[in-house]
Amino acid sequence: MTTDIFSPLKAGTIDLKNRIVMAPLTRSRADGAGVPQPIAAEYYSQRADAGLIITAATQISYEGMGYVRTPGIHTSAQITAWKGIVDAVHAKGGRISVQLWHVGRIASHLNRPVDAGIVAPSAVKAPGKIFTDANGMVDHDQPHALEINEINGITEQFAQAAKTAIAIGFDGVEVHSANGYLLHQFLSSNVNQRSDQYGGSIENRARFPLEVVKAVADAIGASKVGVRVSPGHTFNGIEENDITSLYGYYLPALDKLGLAYLHVMRPTANGFTEDPVTMARALYKGAIVAAGNYTPEDAAALVASGRVDAVAFGRAFIANPDLVERIRSGAPLNEPEVATFYTPGPKGYIDYPRLVA
Ligand SMILES: Cc1cc2nc3c(=O)[nH]c(=O)nc-3n(C[C@H](O)[C@H](O)[C@H](O)COP(=O)(O)O)c2cc1C
Repeated sequence: MTTDIFSPLKAGTIDLKNRIVMAPLTRSRADGAGVPQPIAAEYYSQRADAGLIITAATQISYEGMGYVRTPGIHTSAQITAWKGIVDAVHAKGGRISVQLWHVGRIASHLNRPVDAGIVAPSAVKAPGKIFTDANGMVDHDQPHALEINEINGITEQFAQAAKTAIAIGFDGVEVHSANGYLLHQFLSSNVNQRSDQYGGSIENRARFPLEVVKAVADAIGASKVGVRVSPGHTFNGIEENDITSLYGYYLPALDKLGLAYLHVMRPTANGFTEDPVTMARALYKGAIVAAGNYTPEDAAALVASGRVDAVAFGRAFIANPDLVERIRSGAPLNEPEVATFYTPGPKGYIDYPRLVA
C-alpha cells in the first residue's frame, strides 16, 4: 500500500492533516528588535492549509541574531506577537512549530538592537558578506570562541525558548542544526577547532548539538521536537570532511531521543555526492520530513514510496498561499519573486494571489 501525500500524519504529538509542510523561511519582516509584525499573522494564517507550518528561523537571544529584521522569541514584545500569530493559525485549523535558531558567527552587530557577543565554537571568521540595512553588504564580524559556561548558557536559552513557545500555544519546536549556523558550526570540521570535550572527535563535535536537543526535549517533551539537518551543505563556509561517519553518529543519537521528526534538507551548495535523504533513512527510524527543491510530483512519489513521511516546500509556499489546494487540483503554481524575499512590508509577503480569491 502506498501513502498519499494528502493523508494525515502523527509526528510525535503533532497532528498533521496532510504531509505537505511549509519549510522554515526567513523573510526579514520583523522590526529591528526582532518583534514580528501584524502582517506575519496574516502571512502564516494564509498558509494554514499546510500539514505543518515551520516558522522563519527565530532567535533565542540577541547574541543568536545575525541578519536584519529576523524575529526572536526572548523578549516580552516578541512573545506577545508570536502568541497572536499562533492564535491566528489555529483559528484557521493549522499547526505551527517555531524554528529555534542561534546564528553563531553568521552575524553583523549592525543588525542587532543591542550589543551582544559574536560567538562560534572557535575564533574562525565566516567568509563572504552579510546584508545590513545600515551599510549594505559588510564582512561578517569576528567571533570569539565560546567558553564552557557560555555554551551551557546557550543550551539553557534553547530550552527556555522551547518552554515559552509551548506556553503560548505552538504545536512544537524545530531545533535548527543546519545551514551553517551555530549547531552546524560545532558539527563542522573547519569552524570547530576546539581541543576540549566539544571539539576534535565526532562524538565531541556532536556533543553541543545533542545537549541542546536533549535540553529542549527535557523542557517540553521529545514528541514535540523536530531537528533540522543539512548533511553536506557547504553554505556559510561549512566543511564536514567526514560526512558519512559524522551523521552516522549524530542521526542515530537523535533517533534514540524519540523526537517528533527529523527534517533533512538536501544541500543546494553541495559538498556531498550521496542523497542525504537516503542516508538519513538508513540511520533514522522515526518520522522524516525531506526538503530541498522538490516538485509536487517528486514529493508525492517520495511519500508514496514510504522513504519519507512528509515533504517541506520553501519557495513554492512563499509564492502560493494555497499551495496544498493547487497541488491537489494540479493547478499551475505562482512563481516566487526573489527581489522581495527579504524586503520589509507586505509586498511579496501577503499579496500572492490564490486560485479562488
Ligand atoms: C527566502 C528563503 C529563506 C529561508 N530561510 C530559512 C530558514 O529560516 N531556516 C531554514 O532552515 N531554512 C531556510 N531556507 C531554506 C528552506 O527552508 C528550504 O529548505 C529551501 O528553500 C529549499 O526548498 P525549496 O526548493 O522548496 O525552496 C530558506 C530559503 C529561502 C529561499
